[in-house]
Amino acid sequence: MTDMQPARTCLAIVLAAGEGTRMKSARPKVLHEMAGRSLLGHTLAAVTAAGADAIAVVVGPDRPDVEAEVRKHAPHAAVFVQSERRGTAHAVLAARESLTAGHGDVLVAFADTPLVRPETFAVLRNAVRDGAAVAALGFEARDPTGYGRLVTRDGELQAIVEHKDADEATRAVTLCNAGLMALDGVQALSILEAIGHANAQNEYYLTDAVAVARHKGLRAVARVAPEAEVQGVNDRAQLAAAEADFQRRKRLAVMMAGATLVAPETVFFSHDTVVGRDVVIEPNVVFGPGVRIADNAVIHAFSHLEGASVGPGASIGPYARLRPGAELAKGARVGNFVEIKAAAIGEGAKVNHLTYIGDAEIGARANIGAGTITCNYDGFSKAKTIIGEGAFIGSNSALVAPVRIGAGAYVGSGSVITRDVQPDALAVARGRQIEREGWAAAFRAAARARKAAQ
Ligand code: UD1
Ligand code: MG
Repeated sequence: MTDMQPARTCLAIVLAAGEGTRMKSARPKVLHEMAGRSLLGHTLAAVTAAGADAIAVVVGPDRPDVEAEVRKHAPHAAVFVQSERRGTAHAVLAARESLTAGHGDVLVAFADTPLVRPETFAVLRNAVRDGAAVAALGFEARDPTGYGRLVTRDGELQAIVEHKDADEATRAVTLCNAGLMALDGVQALSILEAIGHANAQNEYYLTDAVAVARHKGLRAVARVAPEAEVQGVNDRAQLAAAEADFQRRKRLAVMMAGATLVAPETVFFSHDTVVGRDVVIEPNVVFGPGVRIADNAVIHAFSHLEGASVGPGASIGPYARLRPGAELAKGARVGNFVEIKAAAIGEGAKVNHLTYIGDAEIGARANIGAGTITCNYDGFSKAKTIIGEGAFIGSNSALVAPVRIGAGAYVGSGSVITRDVQPDALAVARGRQIEREGWAAAFRAAARARKAAQ
């Protein structure tokens, strides 16, 4: 027998019941997006990364949209409805059923605070493991107005006092409550149940967990995070501020991992953008969700990528648009004013100018001429265009799908291709050129004579 203890499991309770009236939106606040993912999605990802074994989300009444978002990011999470808004402790107790499941740590997070790093959740959990019944997260606020204040003495947390309940001396404290908290799983329920509502807002305050724990002779401690990390989103300006901080963080991470950003402040990433080493990203590039860029690729200026994968050494733009399902193999080149959707572009293939490629497979080393269009949609359904290796599509061709161009085939410029082309064949589908010698001179002479006679 070893003396190993069973691992402490962790329950994360995410409060997402806010209606967010200051957003002036038909959408609930926590469904607004930062870096291509909802605020709620960010919080769920962070608590998952922090090692939560179980997640409980507390939502407001009649919010199937918020519930659906929970399912999307945390399929196994339990969803509880807080039918009346009676304070943060009341909200946590809506998840009572999860609280009685015997978890070692309980983390409480707000779904409108999307920048908290998993490491910070871990710091709170560690404080609880080290013997505190309650660990609260504080930050030094530039403007503490409105926040709860952390009252500490000799490194111990004495109480959290809400702004509305604080006297002058307490309002002078600048260490504010971020809202995140970790509680010891054994004590959590009895602490929360002992919280009353005799305060300025007649609410059950989660922050009172500190005073209750101390009253029971248990320890409470504070941990501190930078203000930028714990900033909350209450209106669109704060949403933009959170986005800006997220982008700053992501740009730095991408550069530290070995990519060059020529003008980092003009590049916008999604939460999940993956960028390899020795990638160069020129100014004014926007990444939607689901993009992977392999090593040595170059993304030229003013390109927009979403749901796309760019192979090693491939080159995009300037002014290119990669839409979901665009998959570029090694060394592929997609040039200016080219749109690619749901299409695999083979190794070393070139699609360099003014082209739309949708629902297609393009073989290795194929060359797609300027102005080529895959006509993939007839107003009802989509059809596929398959172009073989080394094929050459002349400029300004329309490929009417479903259609196959065999490997090594040529398509003459300006063709409208409606039938399959055999490998190594030439297909020309355009009006045959006619020429009448001297026609123009004769036309002009006749026209001048007519005009002079008038
Ligand atoms: C809370 C803290 C305060 C802290 C501040 C940080 C309490 C009592 N106060 O104040 O110390 O400085 O956050 O931003 O905890 N919620 C519910 N149900 C409720 C009430 C709130 O789900 O009945 C949720 C909200 O949706 C939100 C979070 O809890 O996600 C915080 O509620 P909010 O009303 O914003 O609390 P604050 O007054 O800002
Ligand atoms: Mg708030």
